[in-house]
Amino acid sequence: MTTAIPTPDFETYSMDVLVASAAATDDTVDITWSDGRTSRYHHIWLRDNCASDKSVDTVSRERMLSLSAIPNDIQPLSVMVSEAGGLQIEWPGDLTSHYHPGWLREFDYSNGSRPTESWPIETWGQELEEDLPIFSADAVFNDEETRYEFLVAIRRLGLAIVTDMPKDFDAFERISSQIGLLRDMNWGKIFEIEPKPAGEYLANRGLALDAHSDASTREYQPGFQIFQCVENTTPGGESFWVDGFRVAEIMKEQYPEQYELLTTVPWEFANRSKGTHYRWTAPILELDIKGNITAVRDTTWLREPLRLEFDMVPKLFAAYKTFVDLKAARENQVERKLVEGDVAFVDNRRALHGRRAFDPTAGGRRHIRTCYGEREELMSSIRMIERARAARQNG
Ligand SMILES: [Fe+2]
Repeated sequence: MTTAIPTPDFETYSMDVLVASAAATDDTVDITWSDGRTSRYHHIWLRDNCASDKSVDTVSRERMLSLSAIPNDIQPLSVMVSEAGGLQIEWPGDLTSHYHPGWLREFDYSNGSRPTESWPIETWGQELEEDLPIFSADAVFNDEETRYEFLVAIRRLGLAIVTDMPKDFDAFERISSQIGLLRDMNWGKIFEIEPKPAGEYLANRGLALDAHSDASTREYQPGFQIFQCVENTTPGGESFWVDGFRVAEIMKEQYPEQYELLTTVPWEFANRSKGTHYRWTAPILELDIKGNITAVRDTTWLREPLRLEFDMVPKLFAAYKTFVDLKAARENQVERKLVEGDVAFVDNRRALHGRRAFDPTAGGRRHIRTCYGEREELMSSIRMIERARAARQNG
């Protein structure tokens, strides 16, 4: 069923449950729904979220209204159920607001509606090797359901593999863009990881690289890194990943004092480059305001010498050493030798990536192409699919 009731966004909302009755109190409008539920909304909240063309720009659907124009104790002149089954309010100043019932239920804060948890996660160790989320490129491009599963797997696990992708440069941009806009870095948007004796980075050698996040020197570390296997015929050179969130969980449980240090004491990171100088100081484990881990900042070759209170130095080393040993434990690693056509999508602030050593002179060739994206791009892509689904369901 379609409806003409405006909403202050581009989403589509259900009309399955309608407003049955509405009444104003001193500071709220109380609603009883057709399914019997009751909800309450403050007057100031309702006025702030008026979706009329006096409050919201009809093209961009962005709010034009400033709170400075509304008294905190604003009162409606009248409140009623609209003909379409939504809420209708007359305000002082010759303003009529219509509220979509599905929109009101989506934002029903009196019944516990809160901003969606943006990052539901499931941590993993070596056992994920048996159950790696692997998707064919063809299905990711051509089947919305598969594309959605692929994006959600990256969100949930911080790791997903796409197979059977052409190995050319354009194909890499095409598949990488599936999660949204890519990020430019000081070495360019796309970086070729190949053995080069004179290459600027450690990645250009054949030595083993322990599990790490990239660009720990940045205030805002890239949220994703994407790896395309162009060729991997040399002996060795397997890729592996460690769920930094799982390692943090283990530390929190088994080494709580060291966990506390890694989440509170900052370590400084800086790049060694002739042409740029990035530098940032932050704890290796980043928590949100609820104490949940949100990011791991950890790159061996970018760590600066510690400069802390004298007695703190050996303590932080001991804590970080525990973290490093857990990263190196095989039971915390998922390994895969990428083959031509593989593209690995990795949460750069969570699924730490590493590689086994290889000998560039032993025959064959190892060529991995990489670029960066952001978590927020991934989330936006997921929400766009959900929006399209809701439009089909409610439209
Ligand atoms: Fe790296």
